[in-house]
Amino acid sequence: MKSSEIRRSFLEFFESKQHRIVPSAPVVTHGDPTLMFINAGMNQFKDVFLGTGTRDYTRAADTQKCIRVSGKHNDLEEVGRDTYHHTFFEMLGNWSFGDYYKEEAIAWAWELLTEVWKMPKDRLFVTCYKTDEEAFKIWNNYLPEDRILYFGDKENFWEMGETGPCGPCSEIHFDKTPDKSGRDLVNADSPQCIEIWNLVFIKYNRKADGSLEELSAKHVDTGLGFERVCAVIQGKDSNYDTDVFMPLINELAELSGKTYLNDIDDHDSVAMRVIADHTRTLSFAIADGAIPGNEGRSYVLRRILRRASSFARNLGFREPVMTKLVGILADTMGDIFPELRENQITIEKVIRGEEENFLMTLDRGLTKFDELAKCSIDGTILGREAFLLYDTFGFPPDLTELIARERNLKVDIDGFNQCMAEQKQRARSARKSISQEVETIACDSITTFVGYDYTEIETTVEFVKDKQIVLDKTPFYAESGGQMSDTGTIEVGDETYNVIDVKRLGRAIVHILDRNTNLKLGDKVTAKVDKARRLDIARNHSGTHLAHEALKTVLGSHIKQSGSLVHPDYLRFDFNHFEKMTDEQIKVIEDIVNEKILSEIDIQINELSLEDAQKNAKIKMFFGDKYGDIVRCVVMSEDFSIELCGGTHVKNTSEIGLFKITSESSVAAGVRRIEAVTGHGAVEFVSGLQNKIKELNEEISANQKTIRKFEKDISDIKREAMEKEISQSTDEAQMFGDIKVIAKQIEADSLDALRDAAVNLRDKFAHKAIILLAVLMDDKVQLACSVTDDINGQYPAGKLVGLAAKELGGGGGGKAHLATAGGRNVQKLPELLENFVGLVEKM
Ligand code: SER
Repeated sequence: MKSSEIRRSFLEFFESKQHRIVPSAPVVTHGDPTLMFINAGMNQFKDVFLGTGTRDYTRAADTQKCIRVSGKHNDLEEVGRDTYHHTFFEMLGNWSFGDYYKEEAIAWAWELLTEVWKMPKDRLFVTCYKTDEEAFKIWNNYLPEDRILYFGDKENFWEMGETGPCGPCSEIHFDKTPDKSGRDLVNADSPQCIEIWNLVFIKYNRKADGSLEELSAKHVDTGLGFERVCAVIQGKDSNYDTDVFMPLINELAELSGKTYLNDIDDHDSVAMRVIADHTRTLSFAIADGAIPGNEGRSYVLRRILRRASSFARNLGFREPVMTKLVGILADTMGDIFPELRENQITIEKVIRGEEENFLMTLDRGLTKFDELAKCSIDGTILGREAFLLYDTFGFPPDLTELIARERNLKVDIDGFNQCMAEQKQRARSARKSISQEVETIACDSITTFVGYDYTEIETTVEFVKDKQIVLDKTPFYAESGGQMSDTGTIEVGDETYNVIDVKRLGRAIVHILDRNTNLKLGDKVTAKVDKARRLDIARNHSGTHLAHEALKTVLGSHIKQSGSLVHPDYLRFDFNHFEKMTDEQIKVIEDIVNEKILSEIDIQINELSLEDAQKNAKIKMFFGDKYGDIVRCVVMSEDFSIELCGGTHVKNTSEIGLFKITSESSVAAGVRRIEAVTGHGAVEFVSGLQNKIKELNEEISANQKTIRKFEKDISDIKREAMEKEISQSTDEAQMFGDIKVIAKQIEADSLDALRDAAVNLRDKFAHKAIILLAVLMDDKVQLACSVTDDINGQYPAGKLVGLAAKELGGGGGGKAHLATAGGRNVQKLPELLENFVGLVEKM
């Protein structure tokens, strides 16, 4: 059976048992700070288990895209070194929401495995929670007692996290040993006997104080490892040998010229498994809107890429290679996950950009590595040096180890971890992170958020610890979906506390006050949001929605949000796009948004079912698992910007005032960022601009004054120089009878200056003088001739200059006392000046 048939048969099987087949939630989560990626099929149903959300069906099944990059069995550093762990995998699942329970869940799992997929019964082992005799008995209908094993909390009590839905579970393990002797290998971390399916019987909620609260209904949550089941059905030892991975591995073998071996220790084969696995993770994460970067989830992706990239280097690649696998992945999985095809170009570009960057870093880092290696002590690279490589060159520790191993060196990983912990501590104290404080409080309260309708209410204290307080109802918005928290006050009698931050903790909304409080449980208080600030935030939030739609209109439908910040003073919006935006595009986007503002559109907030929302292609969605069955939809107008959003907005677009983009930049390969202002921020920006223009004008006029002064200085200097030259010239005069004749070349930057010089010199002599001055200008000779009044009847300047110009192949003339002319034959000038007396004589 092909993997696609296996997936289909799972879904068809549960459809025949009246399950609703639902789509996978995006693997990238939004708005849930406790979860970077979806890590189990049940994530999207958490609210149903807890009783805070409902669906219009009680049975569901799907294949869920999951990413697990940490945890006991899934340390990133280990993936690829074995045959059955992955950073990205599909979890096939079926669920009962207060409908069927253990009896059916077990019966159907058994039927699918042994009847539909025909797995040999004597290769299946089952585990039960140590006290779950009910499950044991049911299983005993299908399997002999010696194939059913009891285990404790660690193996058979499944919990979603520190808090949340949980319950005893039963796992099905497949024995791959040749002689079917896998009983002792169950839960022993052996590739010979692996867990394939986990059936969780959810009936509790783990509360923050550690106690278990019985839920009002009992649920079933199952998770079947798709890649593992494919290996079993296709008779392969390794998940990587199935048709899920082989197209990628074959391509890698082809490109590298190396052979993929069925040998767990073969270095090249480990590298191929790592690259194939990590390419899947990166591609799916990017398709769902995540981007490698420097923080949080983005950093996890960058580490995954760098890990794969360093393995690629070991396979001999010096060029990006993962980007070449994306097309194959899209071909093999695009039918079931069309987002791979839709985003193929983006995925390829982002991965290629990251690979190229890392290859460059790697080159520089390797030089540094070699320096460090020289100072290694006893063949061990010191922890702080490995940390330097990590911190400065982005070398993940396993890459440093890998390179060290190639050179027969070791790395002091404990020392590295120590440096890492110290750096984290430094960062923490620098931030004095409020959220860290919040995370440490244990609080199960449930706060009702009434901030869409009110900014001020009377309410009751539900929980207090030092500076933190939880209220029964609150108008305070807690940071979510990029929108910053509200600030304001909590008042009781004469006492006023400032609320400086607001955080979500489970279902509680925690207000962080400016000081410790002695308020008590049950106290009545007035909670007041800073209205002006809230409105500024709302303007920027609504402005963000309009900008998103305008970006799509102008740059293309590929535009997808990859991050946003809605601040009272400005908004920031990151989106996938590969080119710098032009000034023209920015202007058009501003115009579109401002047109919507000037059109005074009433913003509608609608509630509708998630299912209806998903059917409407116009609706933008980002928050994946956060959506309940009823979603909040912010509609600017039916044909312009409809977005699922939990944030606070203005009532009419006109309240936004003015939208102005203040910057456009790049944040990562293929991701651009705009920052913009609205309302007060825009007013500030415009007055800032006006002040700037005023300052610039003042600066320009001051500069002009200086320039004028310099010009005057220069002309004074020139005049002085000229006068000096003239007075020297009088000494250079040749005599023709009693007439003084001067013929010389001077420096002048205009015809006027040349003429002035001729006049000056003539005035200087006053009597019986003939002057010919020449200047080189634009590859031509310009001549000026002046003659004193007493002799210019006999020797008219106009005639003399004409004769002179003729010698230079030119012509000209003028009055008797002053005339100008020009000629192109520059080489003849010295000769002319030498013989000018001769010309006078001829006349
Ligand atoms: N939630 C369980 C798991 O992740 C079963 O789906 O294993």
